[in-house]
Amino acid sequence: MDQLTSEERASAYCKKRCSVPDFGNLLGMGQEGSVWPTDNETAIKVFDRERNFNSEVSCYEILRDNQVYEIDGFTIPHLIDSDSELLVVEMTIVAPPFILDFGKAYINQRPDFSESVMEYYEQERAEMFEGNWDLVDSAVSSLEQFGIFYWDARPGNIDCRNHPLAKQNDG
Ligand SMILES: Nc1ncnc2c1ncn2[C@@H]1O[C@H](COP(=O)(O)OP(=O)(O)O)[C@@H](O)[C@H]1O
Ligand SMILES: [Mg+2]
Repeated sequence: MDQLTSEERASAYCKKRCSVPDFGNLLGMGQEGSVWPTDNETAIKVFDRERNFNSEVSCYEILRDNQVYEIDGFTIPHLIDSDSELLVVEMTIVAPPFILDFGKAYINQRPDFSESVMEYYEQERAEMFEGNWDLVDSAVSSLEQFGIFYWDARPGNIDCRNHPLAKQNDG
């Protein structure tokens, strides 16, 4: 499986489900992999790392089991399906405001970072979110009731645009 490119894994995943990835309309790219739409109006995310795949699937399963598809005004994708061999997750396509990308989340365990690391993280997020960090931080804290400790808050993952309580910044 390691030899297959992301596109090949996306194609193999879709083929099994009689759908087709739309490689011409990349939904986004992050640190982990690529996300494409399919002709079923879903999104498929192709992971590079198994650990991140497992965390993301586990989080979406917890959220699905609790029927949580929105938290503090942020939409959360619904898990549709996944493939642990191809490392592909299929989910609904969402529009801002949203929270997604659970690949680096901790489950049932608060990350054990030192005070100085925490301080730096918060300071960095305050800058990244330009006035919306409190809003984001509160949504992230709300996820903790489900045992999800989100540790990758960045505007690509938590998009505040169109949130009624957000300061609307560019982009
Ligand atoms: N379900 C989705 N609906 C709409 N856009 C998405 C969806 N999933 C991912 N994206 C877009 O793709 C980008 C990369 O996805 P992400 O899950 O953050 O990947 P990575 O783990 O590589 O950072 C996101 O910032 C977002 O813009
Ligand atoms: Mg991301």
